[in-house]
Amino acid sequence: MQNVGSVYLTRKLPDPALQYLKKRCSLKLWNEEQTPVPRDVLLKQIDQVEGIYCTLSDKIDREVISSAPKLRVISTMSVGYDHIDVQFAREQGIKVTYTPGVLTETTADLAFTLLMSTSRRILEANRSIYEGKWKGWAPLFMAGRDIYGAKLGIVGMGRIGQAMVRRAKGFGMNVSYYSRSRKKEIEQQEKITYKPLEVLLQECDFVSLHLPGNTDTINLIGKKELSLMKPTAVLINTARGTVVNEKALLEALQEGIIRGAGLDVFEKEPIEPGHPLLALPNVVALPHIGSASIETRFKMAMIAAEDLLKGLQGGHPQYEVPIN
Ligand code: DGY
Repeated sequence: MQNVGSVYLTRKLPDPALQYLKKRCSLKLWNEEQTPVPRDVLLKQIDQVEGIYCTLSDKIDREVISSAPKLRVISTMSVGYDHIDVQFAREQGIKVTYTPGVLTETTADLAFTLLMSTSRRILEANRSIYEGKWKGWAPLFMAGRDIYGAKLGIVGMGRIGQAMVRRAKGFGMNVSYYSRSRKKEIEQQEKITYKPLEVLLQECDFVSLHLPGNTDTINLIGKKELSLMKPTAVLINTARGTVVNEKALLEALQEGIIRGAGLDVFEKEPIEPGHPLLALPNVVALPHIGSASIETRFKMAMIAAEDLLKGLQGGHPQYEVPIN
């Protein structure tokens, strides 16, 4: 089999993708699955590589890109690419590929899981059994809020936002959305309503964020936006931690400005176990597992591998990061 070049892989991948790469390129790798490659190791390992296969935990910035003068392709096993300086890479003639589409349904499943867990107080109720707080049936013991008939506001109407609409409709929710550009076809097809962000925040019982992390979306939800929400409302974030001002969110939850939050992403990941957000009973926190099903992670790993090699062979990768 033809060797298409030298590649640095920043994480031990599921076996099919790892074997695929091993057979087709000269591979150097950080042979750990759970922990990211330390930056100083990465910088030392890439001076001769033509391809970097990375994950969202690796910051592929100017310094990294400049340390790999032969680099031709960066492939990330993620739909998000906020960890890569895409513009600088392009200026150097480097292709950047990602894995959109394949994780849409899996991530929407997780967002809806957070919606259900927060509304029906699933973690609190589960803990109450082990903590001996369940004294028997009581009229309002662990009573949550209905999902059926509630208003869901989706912020961002890309693939995952649309997948969220389908789930919400199945549960009898009323759905409205906000996005930078209106999606009239989807409005008609799914019978959902467009609302300006401020209106959506004021009206909805649940607000779920489905936007990329970038300079336009940083701190999109801050103190002012949270103060517009109903005191009974819940915020769901499976997008990027940077979209929400975490300090403002903490205050809003502590002061009862909103009722709860379901969070799969944080400003700094991994979040410290002692972080005050994690001490709140009205927060359901998860360790960035939006796309974490076995099926989806295997597919993501393989798509990123195939696209890396396509790029190195001078072909057209299937999923090149779009020019904004
Ligand atoms: C992505 O791919 O960007 C997701 O956040 C990972 O689950």
